Formats: sequence, C-alpha cells, structure tokens
Amino acid sequence: MVIRIAAVGDVHLDEDVVGRFRPALEQLPDSADVLLLAGDLTRHGTEAEARCVAREFGDLGVPVVTVLGNHDHQCDQVPQVVKVLEDAGITVLEGTGTVVECAGGRLGVAGVKGFGGGFAGRCASDFGEPEMKSFVRTTRESADALAAALLSLDCDALVALTHYSPVPDTLVGEPPEIYPFLGSYQLGQAIDSAPTALALHGHAHHGTERGTTPGGVLVRNVAHPVIKQAYSVYHLGDQVD
Ligand SMILES: [Fe+2]
Repeated sequence: MVIRIAAVGDVHLDEDVVGRFRPALEQLPDSADVLLLAGDLTRHGTEAEARCVAREFGDLGVPVVTVLGNHDHQCDQVPQVVKVLEDAGITVLEGTGTVVECAGGRLGVAGVKGFGGGFAGRCASDFGEPEMKSFVRTTRESADALAAALLSLDCDALVALTHYSPVPDTLVGEPPEIYPFLGSYQLGQAIDSAPTALALHGHAHHGTERGTTPGGVLVRNVAHPVIKQAYSVYHLGDQVD
C-alpha cells in the first residue's frame, strides 16, 4: 500500500496571493491523502495573513498539517496565527506529532520549525558569549523535540516536517555563507535517530529539491520557489518516490 503526501512550503500568503493556489488545491484529493505545509505560510506572521492561509488551505477534503516558519514569527503573533489555522482545521506542529489515517496506512508526522547553526565542519558551537550559546541551544532544543516527537508516534510510515533544513544538500543554489542561517545538522541527526522515511522542509528558496541525511533518509526541499508548482506529491510505500 502507498501513502500519497502532497507538500509545499514558503507560500508567503497575504491578500494579494489568496486564490493563486486554490485551483490546484481543489484537485489535490485526487492525487494525495494529506497535505503537509513546511512553514512560512505568511509574509509577516500577522493574524490577518493567517486568515488568508485559512481561506486558501482550509476545507480541502484531506487533512492539512503544518509547521510555522521564521516569517510566521515576525510580528510576535504566533498564538493568534496558530488559533486561526487550527480553527480552519489545520494541525499545527511544534515539537509534537500527529497520526493521519490514510487508505495506505497510518502516516505519522512529527514537526518543528527548527533553527539554524550550520553543518558538519562549518557550524556554530556552544561556546563563548551568552548570545551564541543561546543560538546553539535553541537549535539543540528544537532537534531534541523533533527526535522525541518522531519516536513517540505509532504508525506505518514516519515523516519529519521542518521549516529549516536538516541537510546542506537541499541548500545548493543558496550562497554558502548563509547556510548556517538556513538549517542545522542537528535536525538531520534527530531525523536519523528514528525510523523516518522522508523529511520535508522549506526556507531555502534558491535551494535544490533533493537530498539525503547522513543516515540515508530522503530529504525534499518543498519551498514553493524550488518546486515551482502548488505542491509536489511523494509516494511512501516499499520505496519513496
Ligand atoms: Fe523561511
């Protein structure tokens, strides 16, 4: 049996974007069992923008599960944004997980926004000023929460959903100087600590769709500017494609 996962990130909705995705979304139940959103749903994280997200991604006919992105934090209205999304039936994950019953089996989705820090050999370390220690600790706590959420789920197939990237592979195309602000190897370690089948993220608009964690988990950057369509569909079965 196969579970069909539609995914997109970085749709950055505001009034002027509402309706752009909807025609394709109306067709989504024909090709996918669930829609996963990889954060940066809004431009500046306002309650009004969240209402645009609710209009665009509500009432789709399939479950919708999301994490927030850095843009969704910009106006310090996260509780209001989460409430608007949840009132529209969208499940918002942050260090938590959910199990979606699909025709092909039970899909477990564990999600965190994640944070930066960089990748092997070129990463921030927990040393020196309190600000640097706080930066690294934020990533550590996010990765630990992702690992715990992944391991908590009783399901047939397991997906990790983040905004920041767990690997550098899917950042190729971005300036190397900003990789430490686009993701962290610690998210990749969390993904590899569980029997994860697929990891989805956004944030890197100029990155690359396909990558793999050091442990062999397939990673897909589903940022809208990367996939260049309303959503991509991945099939989880004996293999992932
Ligand atoms: Fe982002």
